[in-house]
Amino acid sequence: MLRDFFIEDRLERFRTSAFCNLGESGIRNQNLSELSSYLGLDLRELGGLSLADSPNSGRPDLREEIASLYPGASADQVLVTTGTGEALFLAFSLLLEKGDMLSLFWPAFQALYEVPLFRGARLNPVSLLDRMETGEFGFGEKNLRNLFEEKPKLVVLNHPHNPSGMSTTRTDREVLQKLLQDFQETWVLFDEHYRFLDGDSELGWTGFGLSERSLVTGSVTKCFGVMGLRIGWLVGPKDFIAKARSMKDYLTHTVSPISEFLTLALLRKRNAMQASIRKNLKTNITLFSGSVSDLAGIDFFRAPEGGIVGFPKLDPRLSSGSYADLLWNQAGIFVLPGSDFETEGYIRVGFGETPERFRDGLDRWSAIGSETIARLYK
Ligand SMILES: Cc1ncc(COP(=O)(O)O)c(C=O)c1O
Repeated sequence: MLRDFFIEDRLERFRTSAFCNLGESGIRNQNLSELSSYLGLDLRELGGLSLADSPNSGRPDLREEIASLYPGASADQVLVTTGTGEALFLAFSLLLEKGDMLSLFWPAFQALYEVPLFRGARLNPVSLLDRMETGEFGFGEKNLRNLFEEKPKLVVLNHPHNPSGMSTTRTDREVLQKLLQDFQETWVLFDEHYRFLDGDSELGWTGFGLSERSLVTGSVTKCFGVMGLRIGWLVGPKDFIAKARSMKDYLTHTVSPISEFLTLALLRKRNAMQASIRKNLKTNITLFSGSVSDLAGIDFFRAPEGGIVGFPKLDPRLSSGSYADLLWNQAGIFVLPGSDFETEGYIRVGFGETPERFRDGLDRWSAIGSETIARLYK
């Protein structure tokens, strides 16, 4: 059985009504006019777009554009999917059988382990919680080695990582490359949803091509605030992509031509948008880091190295659910409790809000006194 997707309950309840939405893992969504003015798009061009089914693998020019993000990849190694959620579902369904071992860093985005469990896989979660408090950059050699300890069929590496905000260092990548040479049977799936916001680079590192058994998922939706376009992709060996395409025919079959059109325009002109997105993200993260000591109930925070989210640690006397409820009820701030990541004692904070709303939210948050928080102690 697939269990409930834990984060979705709060996301459904609060994402549209939150004054300050820090529950989301993406940049605050833009509307179509904002997007088109950024991209210099004349929306009348949409008028000529055929509303026929798109090609099953995705529009050829879009696949070319996506392939160009991955050194050495060609368009026939790219499958356009409905969100990366579908790409992940296809990859897990094709790779995993009952009893197969899957390793991943913990805590994790639920689909990365829930779908494998549904397939009957066994899980080797490798905790990042201690590493988060060392202040060292990257995942670290020991943690990476632990991913391979049980000789897994599949390692899932989500980088930049949701929810910890960790990303790979050069040393991590070297270690990984060596491990993949040593574990010839192991597949790796790189979930690179936040690749366009990985540290200071315009386009973060990709694990594509690290071995013949590597797959990558990606998207523009979270990094550019266009979640509703629902476009994602899977990149991998040609024969694997052909099988994934055939399986996709049973699921969503094709994606919307309107979404493909806008995604292609966005990818081609992404630099126009990236500068302001990065600036706002940095402003919010810096503000939060500087305000943590004023936020009653937060014990520790490590600023993300990449991506849009962080995972502050709570005072151990607090339960994450009641803390998240209090923030919502008293300040109109929406965050996700660590319990939704099956990891008590933390909350997940997104930094994709507009700086104005983020600042207002923090003012309201810091106005919640420690006496109020103390009433929540378990
Ligand atoms: C790490 C990670 N992977 C995959 C997904 C799924 O994203 P999509 O909306 O593209 O299906 C998410 C969504 O939050 C995510 O955080």
